[in-house]
Amino acid sequence: MLPNVLILLALIFCACGQNPAIRVVVTDKGLQYGRHAVAGWIQDKLELVTLPDMSGEMRVGFLARIGYTLTGITIRKCDFPEPSVEFYPGFSGLKTSVAGLDVALAGGWEAHCGFVHGGGSFDMASFGVGLVSVVKLGRDSGGHLSLTGVNCNAQVDHVDVRFYGDRSWLFRLFEERFKDRIRSQMEATICPAVEELIANLENRLEDMKVSFQVNEDLTLDLPLIGLPEVDASSLHLGLKGEFYSIQSPEEPPFEARPFAVAQQPGYMLSVGLSDFTVNSASFSYFAAGLLQAFINDSMIPPGSPVRLNTTSMAPFIPQLPEMFPDLPMALQIYARDVPVFFFRSGAVTLSSPCAAKAFVIRPDATLAPLFQLHVDSNFSGEVWVADGRLKGSVSMDNFTLSLATTEIGPFKTDALENVTQTLMETSVLPQLNGKLATGFPLPRTVHAQLVNPFVKVEEGFVAFCSDAELLKTQFEIEHNLGSIYST
Ligand SMILES: *[C@@H]1O[C@H](CO)[C@@H](O)[C@H](O)[C@H]1NC(C)=O
Ligand SMILES: *[C@@H]1O[C@H](CO)[C@@H](O)[C@H](O)[C@H]1NC(C)=O
Ligand SMILES: *[C@@H]1O[C@H](CO)[C@@H](O)[C@H](O)[C@H]1NC(C)=O
Ligand SMILES: *[C@@H]1O[C@H](CO)[C@@H](O)[C@H](O)[C@H]1NC(C)=O
Ligand SMILES: *[C@@H]1O[C@H](CO)[C@@H](O)[C@H](O)[C@H]1NC(C)=O
Repeated sequence: MLPNVLILLALIFCACGQNPAIRVVVTDKGLQYGRHAVAGWIQDKLELVTLPDMSGEMRVGFLARIGYTLTGITIRKCDFPEPSVEFYPGFSGLKTSVAGLDVALAGGWEAHCGFVHGGGSFDMASFGVGLVSVVKLGRDSGGHLSLTGVNCNAQVDHVDVRFYGDRSWLFRLFEERFKDRIRSQMEATICPAVEELIANLENRLEDMKVSFQVNEDLTLDLPLIGLPEVDASSLHLGLKGEFYSIQSPEEPPFEARPFAVAQQPGYMLSVGLSDFTVNSASFSYFAAGLLQAFINDSMIPPGSPVRLNTTSMAPFIPQLPEMFPDLPMALQIYARDVPVFFFRSGAVTLSSPCAAKAFVIRPDATLAPLFQLHVDSNFSGEVWVADGRLKGSVSMDNFTLSLATTEIGPFKTDALENVTQTLMETSVLPQLNGKLATGFPLPRTVHAQLVNPFVKVEEGFVAFCSDAELLKTQFEIEHNLGSIYST
């Protein structure tokens, strides 16, 4: 018993101690766009719906009863007014209402009264169908968004029915009572159908992935942390937003700090990405030993005045060519510690503590260690969105190079620092900035793309604001292909 309680307490403590590293805010503009898209989708689907059979018994006169069944009820035509959807802070959810829906239905009927049996087809019209449904948003134990129907209210103003076929007079005799009967039966089926729809969506949400493989080295965990928060004009979701190394998943020695994303009512969506998310990727690469590179002379640009060999190093390390005359060299460059990104208002800075181990390549191809340098550089950069791409620029704020260990005796590093810094500034950074100026395409899925995106670096996080556009769904594409083939 006690161990269970302790585990439970530990879980609660862990869950509370963690801050979301990615925050998503959906504004009313986003909700209304979603509603419009869903309404169009429902309108298309409704024509394909077959309603459940309705059967019952109605007492007529003192002794007689009419038993009836309506089957194969399909929607012929539906005048579907746009529903209204709003944030509903009271239940931390959404409230959907539909009013004044008119539906034309058709199907078959069967009836019996004593020994008299009849059957045929019918047309039906339901007028003034209305529905109010409140759905509470929550979080399940797996970190998925969850939906629970908390309130449902349906009404049907009135129903008109025409029966055709054998002995349809059975109904016509009691038409008014029958219409009322059907009306209340329909009314009673709406909310259970809505509940079923919600349960269906809930199942889909439960099956959604909350961890994604980004490349061969990293996964990104995006479960919800904490409950969704709903106020009168927005929905706030907090996601874990942490990268893990696939080879050696472990927690970094730093934590996500709390931050808040201001909602931008002019945009459908705002996403805040904290520097923790970026640094968890940095840590994962570092912990998996992936932040290192081996460099030899063949990788130095052909035009470079400095080659990676002992002769070429003479101006910087005079004793080197004397100890190892005209031999090629190699460098192992690696991160000494996790490179850390800081997001500050308007700028991103990166401090990267690196080291370079130098070797001489002996004629028998073995490596002899020469010395180790510490290379500390700080960079700062800006990011922006243009032409639908995320672009940026980087400059080097500080660069220091110092001798950490040496197998060949001491030497001054000033000149080496100067030439390395010049190389960075004239060769490496311009290349990097060329790539950043071309930029990277913004994330886009088969179902949606961003429209009008905007990015701003804030204290501790980057805020992305955007509108979204839903693209043709798979179903619509197949449907269109089908109609091309059939003509
Ligand atoms: C330099 O390294 C590359 C790849 O590690 C290797 O293919 C090449 O043979 C090396 N060149 C020299 C001169 O050692
Ligand atoms: C070393 O570099 C110099 C140019 O600085 C070049 O003349 C020489 O041939 C190179 N030696 C080797 C072994 O690559
Ligand atoms: C680099 O940046 C870090 C963090 O902003 C700072 O602590 C460090 O002093 C900087 N290093 C240099 C050499 O300016
Ligand atoms: C780098 O930082 C050191 C000490 O913090 C300073 O003396 C040096 O001028 C800086 N270099 C640049 C390029 O800013
Ligand atoms: C590097 O050396 C050149 C000439 O030797 C000098 O003009 C320049 O100012 C030096 N740069 C730095 C950052 O010390």
